[in-house]
Amino acid sequence: MRKRIFSGMRPTGKLHLGHLVGALSNWVKLQEAYDCVFGIVDWHALMGEYENSKAITENIYEMALDWLASGIDPKKSIVFIQSHVPEHLELNMIFSCLTPLGWLERNPTYKEQLREITTRDLQTYGFLGYPVLQAADILLYKADAVPIGEDQLPHIELTREIGRRFNHIFQVEFFADCEAILTKTPRLLGVDGRKMSKSYNNAINLSDSKEDILAKVKNMFTDPKRIKLSDVGHPHECNVYSYYEVFSPDATETVFKECTKAQRGCTDCKKCLADILIKNLSPLQEKRISLEKDKNLIKDVLSDGAKKARALAQETLGQIKEIIF
Ligand code: TRP
Ligand code: SF4
Repeated sequence: MRKRIFSGMRPTGKLHLGHLVGALSNWVKLQEAYDCVFGIVDWHALMGEYENSKAITENIYEMALDWLASGIDPKKSIVFIQSHVPEHLELNMIFSCLTPLGWLERNPTYKEQLREITTRDLQTYGFLGYPVLQAADILLYKADAVPIGEDQLPHIELTREIGRRFNHIFQVEFFADCEAILTKTPRLLGVDGRKMSKSYNNAINLSDSKEDILAKVKNMFTDPKRIKLSDVGHPHECNVYSYYEVFSPDATETVFKECTKAQRGCTDCKKCLADILIKNLSPLQEKRISLEKDKNLIKDVLSDGAKKARALAQETLGQIKEIIF
């Protein structure tokens, strides 16, 4: 019996390099060893973006395209839209009844987002319950493992706690603990050195043209101590260098040597990085273009995925209702 994986992404905008190295490339590998269920979690997107809800539909399509172009294979994995499987909301309701408010109010991710995000009003009932729906996503498929970024660890812990609380209240051993699978890739920063994020407008998107990539890379911050070409550089303090480490490990030795001996100019170094990124993304972008030619492909993949996901979800939810009522 293969173990099962569930993971999800919110369709809130274009996918960028951070999604690729932080999640997608890992998902693609996991498909070989696990039964994977990958959800485009549109209810979660609505929780944060309810004032801009129309964008979600377009984003779902783009996200599905990016996933398939990156190598997510609908023959191997279930790919679906969360709202197409209403059982997520039913289980969310059940978990809402038994999740103590304190667990949600104490959640560090929640507190951080309330503090950081000032452009949207997130003081809502739904947003407080964000991790409850996430627990429903995972436990509906009785997933053994969940590939996620580090920022999501508190949500996985809450998922385990909600599962255990269910078991305890109904005196069953129904949900097992799920484990987090953390991606080993170091987190890529945005071109301005802050966390890569659509809201900071500092990301290199998977669908960016050659010109976009070159322009963004040219604007990247480098070693702040290096002012003149004759100053020696400190690669470990340079964001450009960290991109080399991720996208061209073979080149790092040369870049390091030349930079620390002031034999390499930052302008050239960036030009070279832009070429590497363009080359890296080109197979994905070509595949994206060819997938796009088949107008029904994404719709068909998502409706087939919803059918398969729903069959699993209905089975679990049926058992859960037996336990409760
Ligand atoms: N909260 C996750 C994020 O923002 C998205 C998500 C929703 C998710 N449900 C999930 C991730 C279930 C893993 C498993 O990245
Ligand atoms: Fe960074 Fe390259 Fe400039 Fe060195 S040469 S500081 S690695 S951009």
